[in-house]
Amino acid sequence: MLKSNGGVLGFKCIRCGKEAPDAKNYVCPSCSGNLDVVYDYPAIKKKLTRASLTKNADTSVWRYKDMLPIADYRGVPIVHIGGTPLYKAERLGSDLGLSSLYLKDDGRNPSASFKDRAGSVVVAKALELGERTVTGASTGNAASSMACLTAGLGLRTIIFLPEKAPVAKIAQLLVFGAVVIAVKGTYDQAFDLCLKATEMFGWYNQNTGHNPFTREGKKTCSFELVEQLAWRCPDKVFVSVGDGNIISGLWKGFKDFYALGLIDRLPQLVGVQAEKSDAVKRAFESDGVIRPVSGDTIADSISVSVPRDGEAAVRALRESKGFAVSVTDDEILSAMRDTARRESVFGEPAGVASVAGLRKACAQGLVKRDETVVALITGNGLKDVASAMKAVGKPHLISPDAGELKALASSLKLA
Ligand SMILES: Cc1ncc(COP(=O)(O)O)c(C=O)c1O
Ligand SMILES: [Zn+2]
Repeated sequence: MLKSNGGVLGFKCIRCGKEAPDAKNYVCPSCSGNLDVVYDYPAIKKKLTRASLTKNADTSVWRYKDMLPIADYRGVPIVHIGGTPLYKAERLGSDLGLSSLYLKDDGRNPSASFKDRAGSVVVAKALELGERTVTGASTGNAASSMACLTAGLGLRTIIFLPEKAPVAKIAQLLVFGAVVIAVKGTYDQAFDLCLKATEMFGWYNQNTGHNPFTREGKKTCSFELVEQLAWRCPDKVFVSVGDGNIISGLWKGFKDFYALGLIDRLPQLVGVQAEKSDAVKRAFESDGVIRPVSGDTIADSISVSVPRDGEAAVRALRESKGFAVSVTDDEILSAMRDTARRESVFGEPAGVASVAGLRKACAQGLVKRDETVVALITGNGLKDVASAMKAVGKPHLISPDAGELKALASSLKLA
């Protein structure tokens, strides 16, 4: 039986269900499954209420301190994480036959992706534990977030990422001053090498899912959604899935608010994966066992062979009575254009895969017209300009000459 320590009771293995008093080795001591933080809801319920939140002027992830696993918040990053806009997407909604579609733009975080939510809590935990060096493997966004959030805090940040990561993400890492180790291989190989580094050197490991606190940071998005929808729970939330940590974090957030009595029902979660990077979808639709896939897709952030929080993702889909959709690279690029041109939100390929999945689900009649639907935009389009250029044409090139301009305007029917 776990004992209460402030709001946190301890940890529970997602795979075998055994409890653990701490997360010193990150994963379950019995079966190496990922751990989940267990909270003392009756104690938290006394502090965290609709009234307390309404009075709270903090619009960042730290407004949810009572529901986060940190005891000492001294020194946490001061940049504004979370509190991202939720837009009513009237035009895209009408294209898809939906009356209440919302886009949550998490590309508006400090390092321009959803990963800053995970980074916030992991960095706070590293500081609380008195760590000096943090390390992480990433397709790019978790790493650039860690580099951004640790800048100036006196922590050394050592990042492993596939050498083919988009150049903007590598630039972010270097600008923020991380030690960047590009691995000649895939994200999965970089992940395993980073685990080895932790074993060899004792560096604090932030790897997605492996570190149980990544999920805790990500759940703050669900808290925000509920508050932004005036305490209504959405019917469906579409989210792109790579390792499966965002979707399992979202589910944790909705379940937290439900356990605290802040909402009276739960949403269906819809996981969107790229066609050849669909290990979670396959497991969800069969026996629940994660098996490796090629991981090949233009959406580098969700290009994953073996999802590292796949079991928790399958559980989130099952418990929420949701479903999974896979999309092609062309569908992702088309969603990138639609989201930008209809709603002024420019997402990276993985960031808009959610919209591509929503379009497909609507075409298959899986979404009802009057449902409240949210699609999460998880990363900003400027993260991967090379992919964006594949979704659009080239600019019109002319000499600085009025005659040429006139001819062009006429051929384009601009005048
Ligand atoms: C922009 C973006 N979208 C979606 C994801 C998928 O999140 P997860 O790997 O937790 O499933 C990631 C992960 O890197 C990401 O960077
Ligand atoms: Zn276990």
